[in-house]
Amino acid sequence: MAKAVESQGLSCAQAGNGLDALALLEQFGELPLCITDIFMPAMDGVAFLRRARELYPDMAVIMLTGVSEVTTAVECLQLGALDYISKPVMLDEVRARVANALEKRSLVLQNRMYQHTLESRVRELDRRNRQSLLNGVEMLVFALEAKDAYTSGHSLRVKEFTVKTAVQLGFTDDVLAEVDLGSRLHDIGKIGIRETVLHKPGPLTPDEFEHIKLHTLLGERILQPFLSEQPRVLRIVRSHHERMDGTGFPDGLSGDRIPIEARIVAVADAYDAMTTNRAYRASRTPGAAVEELRRSAGAHFDSDVVEAFMRAHPDLTRHPIRA
Ligand SMILES: [Fe+2]
Repeated sequence: MAKAVESQGLSCAQAGNGLDALALLEQFGELPLCITDIFMPAMDGVAFLRRARELYPDMAVIMLTGVSEVTTAVECLQLGALDYISKPVMLDEVRARVANALEKRSLVLQNRMYQHTLESRVRELDRRNRQSLLNGVEMLVFALEAKDAYTSGHSLRVKEFTVKTAVQLGFTDDVLAEVDLGSRLHDIGKIGIRETVLHKPGPLTPDEFEHIKLHTLLGERILQPFLSEQPRVLRIVRSHHERMDGTGFPDGLSGDRIPIEARIVAVADAYDAMTTNRAYRASRTPGAAVEELRRSAGAHFDSDVVEAFMRAHPDLTRHPIRA
């Protein structure tokens, strides 16, 4: 049989039983194909097949079986043998089965390699998609900040406050990444708000206030087409001005009906707004801002979120509270 195989231009190593075959394999490493008898001393063909499948899963194994061993042959196929040849052996049949087995094995390997390449290409495409999405996000944020100098840096600070608070509340991984993106984009709808209203130094008229309230819905509409698979981002943009007592906008949601992500951004947004100079008022000290968050917890802000915000930023409270 070895000669028959070698006549196909293949080189061949021979072993007297299963144990010897395993020793050979250990010496050579995985071989493309192994033909094994079933009845052998020391280790029989079935035991060898089990062990070989564990150690060399890509090696094709052909069993040699006697007429009375059909059941064993089927068992071997179930254990992962690629084929079996019935004895008495015809050398032409051996050559044909060997060629078949090698071709089948190489197809399996090619297929696996193709799959692997495909998977890594898909991963790469996914990475590029995410990157271009983030670039688009950056562009939007820059566009907004160029239009509204007062909120320059605001989105970035709100993002920092939000992410730290979200971590305190147990957010991790992909969910945290969505909250990160949402907080960065929360005011993106202000791109569509008139600059005279956005920059007005004094208090707003009711009409102007109605106009500025639209930034929540506008932002959601701008982002919807390319962030539909990141609903948390959209929820933050839409609902970051809701209040716990239901007096916020745009939907007048109250309590737990306000998405948790939006409740976090509401606290971070308010803190940053209070501690930054705006067109219509000077900033407060961090201590005074913290005091205000605490005072409004329950009615305006989620108390648990305010506490998480405080835990996430212990240094804020070290600033003296203004009398
Ligand atoms: Fe806003």
